[in-house]
Amino acid sequence: MIKFIKVLKAEDLPIGKSAIILVGGLEIAVFNYKNEYFAILNKCPHKGGPLGEGRVQEGIVICPNHEWRFELKTGNSMQNPEMKVKIFPVRIKDEKIYVGFDQNQTKILGKEASALPASLKFKIPTILKPINPEEEL
Ligand code: FES
Repeated sequence: MIKFIKVLKAEDLPIGKSAIILVGGLEIAVFNYKNEYFAILNKCPHKGGPLGEGRVQEGIVICPNHEWRFELKTGNSMQNPEMKVKIFPVRIKDEKIYVGFDQNQTKILGKEASALPASLKFKIPTILKPINPEEEL
């Protein structure tokens, strides 16, 4: 079962912008591409680059580290068909953006939602917490 968690107000993510949301131990990159919202794991399957800091062209996010490309809609790599970045379902309700997690993932949500992983090696000024992790859609 999927649990949707409210992560951002839509007004805080204008067209062309992305935000990185820390939910439990997971960093999720949320994009507004042409007024459509996408959420993917903020971790490039190549060497872990922060995809939320990548630029988007034609619905494809380009990893800032070595420029591998992933389709926002499917998570598929344009370089290697066997590689894929994890995607999350997104819903909009009352001008808020919700990201869906499956049950296994929701077990890790909650208490440590604000803690940055110690292993984080890059600086992201925009890491955010979900608006209210307890509130479900
Ligand atoms: S880490 Fe993303 S392309 Fe290398």
